[in-house]
Amino acid sequence: MRNLMIAGNWKMNKNYTEGVELAQGLADALAGKDLNGVEVVVCPPTVDLKGVSEVIDQTNAQFSLGAQNVYFEESGAFTGETAPSMLEAVNATYCIIGHSERRGYFGETDEDINKKAKALMTHGIVPISCCGEPLEVREAGKHVEFVVDQIKADTEGLEITDPSKYVIAYEPIWAIGTGKTATADDAQEVCGAIRETLAEIFGKETADGIRVLYGGSAKPGNIAELVAKPDVDGALVGGASLKAEDFSQMVIKAGE
Ligand code: 13P
Repeated sequence: MRNLMIAGNWKMNKNYTEGVELAQGLADALAGKDLNGVEVVVCPPTVDLKGVSEVIDQTNAQFSLGAQNVYFEESGAFTGETAPSMLEAVNATYCIIGHSERRGYFGETDEDINKKAKALMTHGIVPISCCGEPLEVREAGKHVEFVVDQIKADTEGLEITDPSKYVIAYEPIWAIGTGKTATADDAQEVCGAIRETLAEIFGKETADGIRVLYGGSAKPGNIAELVAKPDVDGALVGGASLKAEDFSQMVIKAGE
């Protein structure tokens, strides 16, 4: 019903040359492997997109390309921003939106994220829309309602005709880059609540087709346990996506 997805978010790591090398290493590590239907995505920094896109073409790589951010306008005087059509032109299939680092450091709001999703979908680029609670919300036991509210705001007015073309990543902020993975049960609790919310908004059939990933210190050692949960459809991976060996291991283990 839903193919698992393992997506690597390189964040602000790897310059152009290093990015091309990492993509090449990953292409080599996955070449000829049966991934058991696991879909693999890499999301390099914007200036690396074209180079990684070329590696994918030249090696017929078993992964596709995603960006880490986009702006919702089509073109114009928005210094430093990247339009959806520009991502399309370098063959980006996916784009992360609403990462907690963008919400936290760059002031992105649910309204921005909703506009970005709509702009991407107009261009046929699949959003990987992130949500997740800070530590104090988790400690207050309010994490489910916090995330449900984000999902409602981020999806407002979206039309999802093909559920494989919209992806959510649940990333509890306290688990990002800290080595503190949420337990598989913690991930399932929130990913399950996300799916119930999607069913209320879009209907059960659509909700059952949307991938809900977990992110936050996911690594080769915990991926199998995470994807064994019924509503966890893969992972959005930061640190462990920066080494071809670790990342390819995660892909293989997810598919076993
Ligand atoms: P880490 O895997 O490094 O914790 O990062 C998770 C993340 O933020 C992916 O988007």
